[in-house]
Amino acid sequence: MRAAVYRRFGGPDVVGVEEVPTPRPRPDEILIRVHASTVSAADHRSRSKDVPRGLALPSSLVLGLFRPRRRVLGMDVAGVVEAVGAEALGFAPGDEVIAMLGSRFGGHAEYALIKATDAVAPKPSRLRFDEAAAIVFGGITARAFLRQADVSAGARVLVNGASGSVGTAVVQLAHASGAHVTAVTSDANGDLVMGLGADEVVDYGKTDFAADGRMYDVLVDCVGNAPLSRVKGSIASGGAVLLVATDLPSLLTAKRDARRLGISVVTGPGPYRADDLRYLTQLAEEGRLVPVIDRTYRLDEIADAHRYVDTGRKRGSVVLAVS
Ligand SMILES: NC(=O)c1ccc[n+]([C@@H]2O[C@H](COP(=O)([O-])OP(=O)(O)OC[C@H]3O[C@@H](n4cnc5c(N)ncnc54)[C@H](OP(=O)(O)O)[C@@H]3O)[C@@H](O)[C@H]2O)c1
Repeated sequence: MRAAVYRRFGGPDVVGVEEVPTPRPRPDEILIRVHASTVSAADHRSRSKDVPRGLALPSSLVLGLFRPRRRVLGMDVAGVVEAVGAEALGFAPGDEVIAMLGSRFGGHAEYALIKATDAVAPKPSRLRFDEAAAIVFGGITARAFLRQADVSAGARVLVNGASGSVGTAVVQLAHASGAHVTAVTSDANGDLVMGLGADEVVDYGKTDFAADGRMYDVLVDCVGNAPLSRVKGSIASGGAVLLVATDLPSLLTAKRDARRLGISVVTGPGPYRADDLRYLTQLAEEGRLVPVIDRTYRLDEIADAHRYVDTGRKRGSVVLAVS
């Protein structure tokens, strides 16, 4: 099969398309023929080792110290089940699915493996494969963080970094729960996030949301510039801060500081779950979660796709059309 392979850490040009053996499913796995994946912030970080302050060593344990442990990037896929292991229940060849491969990666290839009990679920029937791929990475991250907080009708939710893959999903999921959503973004992306259900936009170029006196029940940081020391005055008593992007110093102090402030803090998504993907599929079928696709690249344009994601300015997802 064709796959986008990288053998050393570095810039976009370390990734190139090669012929590699097609994987075969173990008894508990399914083999997916990949139609589309995305090039995500996680692919950027994994390829370049551009990780937040203090996380170089811990991330090396997952990514590899001197060279990549996983040679094919791509955390998410939308595709069709090609083959099913003897003990893999619930799926059959021909099923259209979405899957979050997570730190196992492997989505930037014509075929990918996942355990049938991991994060794999039916693809929304009303979405094309490229559209379906675009809801997986941001959507499952948003869902995994938001379900650890009380985001019920009327909750005041602030999303910092609302125009990225995770942010656009957080805006839509919080809106779907009936929350009042304030989206922090650049002026250029204000219309995008309002169209996704944000009630208000704060242009971070003009206003510091942490200094305008307003309070929120749930603050979701998808940028990594909202440590508790900065935003503690903006969180209502009993509220929560969801640190989607953060560095080691904030991770180490967040729980202790949160206890002192009478708020809660969420520092990770926990294991990726098929239930969460099924929730995304349901919302997408209802038209309440729409894919946000910035650009689409072919597999053989993989280096260009990485180059664009490296800018840190993508809106929603950058799709990789695999077949
Ligand atoms: N903890 C986890 O499990 C987990 C999972 C997924 C992602 N992440 C992390 O979460 C972060 C977001 O991921 P993503 O996929 O959403 O990234 P992304 O799609 O690459 O985010 C790009 C967006 O960030 C916005 N942005 C950049 N600087 C900003 C700022 N100062 N204020 C507000 N918005 C800003 C940009 O909008 P403008 O051009 O308008 O600035 C752009 O639209 C990444 O650091 C990623 O590594 C963590």
